[in-house]
Amino acid sequence: MDYRKETMDIFDQSASKQYREKDDHLVGHGSRQHYCEIVRELSGGFGKKINVLDLGCGTGRYFHCLRNVKRLMGIDISAHMLDLARDPVKSKQIDVEDIELRCGDIYSLELPDQSFDLIYSIGVVGEYSPINNVFLDKLSGLLAPKGRLFFTVVDVYSRFQMPENKQASFTRRALRKFFPLLPPFAKKSLNRALSSFYMTDRELTALLRKSQFATFNVSRFEHPSGWQGAHLDCLAEKHDKVGGAAATVARRGADTPQENTLVVFSLPEQQG
Ligand SMILES: C[S@@+](CC[C@H](N)C(=O)[O-])C[C@H]1O[C@@H](n2cnc3c(N)ncnc32)[C@H](O)[C@@H]1O
Repeated sequence: MDYRKETMDIFDQSASKQYREKDDHLVGHGSRQHYCEIVRELSGGFGKKINVLDLGCGTGRYFHCLRNVKRLMGIDISAHMLDLARDPVKSKQIDVEDIELRCGDIYSLELPDQSFDLIYSIGVVGEYSPINNVFLDKLSGLLAPKGRLFFTVVDVYSRFQMPENKQASFTRRALRKFFPLLPPFAKKSLNRALSSFYMTDRELTALLRKSQFATFNVSRFEHPSGWQGAHLDCLAEKHDKVGGAAATVARRGADTPQENTLVVFSLPEQQG
């Protein structure tokens, strides 16, 4: 099945409602607190008013964490999730001048280059949707010089997830129970079978090395409660204007000498 259709099925009306209810109950705890702090620090760290893009914004769980934001665009493929983002958690605390919500696929984005200072995507790519270099380069193009991208992917060694609106079958319940006892290669194969978008930190690092981003950092976040798994948190920064693109080409050329500068425009393989 097409992952877009699958995602829209997962985040149907009832699952979206459950998701939004959890926003209210769990705000300030566990992973919500972790990602809220990241969004707050990143957005507040530019020292000026910024424009922000939230890819797969869902119910707008992290809108209230944003600081110093002039314009926020939230994009999501689920109309039900997006509907709920019109009245997100802690809405009274949201301090953004202008919010635009768009229903659509993040891979079909058609926006002018250098439109944003910060792009973030939490719980979306490397989970429900794939991530590859074509997409990363597109995001780099959407960022202003020195712009920042923060996103998460699911670590492939994590215990696999259940769609929120699905009853767990006996087999799935059993697999979940015994998952921690499995050797790493079995964990990886099982998760690959269930979600081909999950990644190892090596795969993610390789992807970022090939990207146009000047610097990046990947760290592992083990969820303290709820879902028992880990996300790989990735923060990448775009080069500033002078010499950035040339430096990227040179670095890529060194990594893959046979491909030389053409690699910048090549279509990389999809992960998974
Ligand atoms: C787990 S939710 C995360 C929502 C929000 N980022 C958060 O952290 O609460 C995943 C969201 O990503 C959206 N999504 C997944 N793939 C997408 C795609 N290709 N284009 C747009 N939205 C997508 C889903 O519809 C869903 O709302």
